[in-house]
Amino acid sequence: MGQNRIELVEVGPRDGFQNLKEYISMEDKLHYIDGLIGAGVKHIQITSFVSPKAIPQMKDARELAGHCAAMYPDVDLFSLVPNLYGAKAAWECGLKKTSYVISLSESHNEANINRTREQSLEELGRIREELPDLTILSDIATAFACPFEGIMMLDGLLELMGKIYGLGVREFVLCDTIGMAHPAQVREYVRAAMKEFPDCRFQVHIHDTRNMGIVNTLAAIECGVQGVQSTLGGLGGCPFAPGASGNTSTEDLVYMLNRMGYETGIEFERLLALAKEEHSAIPGAYSGHHINIGAQACGMNV
Ligand code: COA
Ligand code: ZN
Repeated sequence: MGQNRIELVEVGPRDGFQNLKEYISMEDKLHYIDGLIGAGVKHIQITSFVSPKAIPQMKDARELAGHCAAMYPDVDLFSLVPNLYGAKAAWECGLKKTSYVISLSESHNEANINRTREQSLEELGRIREELPDLTILSDIATAFACPFEGIMMLDGLLELMGKIYGLGVREFVLCDTIGMAHPAQVREYVRAAMKEFPDCRFQVHIHDTRNMGIVNTLAAIECGVQGVQSTLGGLGGCPFAPGASGNTSTEDLVYMLNRMGYETGIEFERLLALAKEEHSAIPGAYSGHHINIGAQACGMNV
């Protein structure tokens, strides 16, 4: 991969929608997924296979994933799962890849998925055994900081990653679940992780809670991660992490990276139109600053 290429990974249909209380119809969800693909987005986390009691918004996961897998065979579609039950469901729907979430912080893992980290690791072992052909991205939630335990230590992160690596996983997503990281911490943790696991691929997933989503994401890109996650319109948040708010917004990121000369393959104007539509059509959609960026006023198309 050349220096100016970066995989932009849209997680809005999962991390964005999961935080909205009012149910968004499957038809509307498909409309956004279709719009993203139309704008050139090639990597999309379309849903999560989780308990509908935990996240009612994702109750249509099977139907939606089955539809998308059949409809967009050339797009890199994946989901998020917390356990074997979810991984089996994702696989049965035709998804070849899924994120499997474990929190670095013990207390967040228990709040999020009602399991200890040890239990989550054992479950990952079972998934690898039962579904050896399913590609697993390891989402490390609270990799930088936790709403209950504060700043997380780098050695703890590397230790947990080592256990996951030992189970055969070769792609990691370092998640700043509550947007507490800063660029120096991102650089330190990402560089150390890449050095420790040189045969792995890396992504970051950064929330914009303290307006540092874009600088933190850029810090990770400049360290050489292969992919960065974001959400259309900056939607998002973890219902089990108090204070978590939206993600880095995809349109901000695309605007910046296209102008910096990165090959994103995404048409900014189409993406912006979709973000504006989402912003006005979806109840509770995050009303951040993202829609008012200068490019819109200038009508620039870069
Ligand atoms: N998808 C759908 N249903 C699931 C499921 C999955 N992946 N895993 C378990 N269930 C169902 C079980 O079948 C059971 O159903 P029943 O009550 O009808 O018998 C019920 O959920 C409880 O199962 P159990 O294994 O006891 O789970 P739990 O209550 O301990 O909850 C999780 C554990 C992981 C299922 C739940 O905490 C969860 O889904 N968390 C996801 C949180 C999330 O998405 N956070 C944001 C993304 S990081
Ligand atoms: Zn998130």
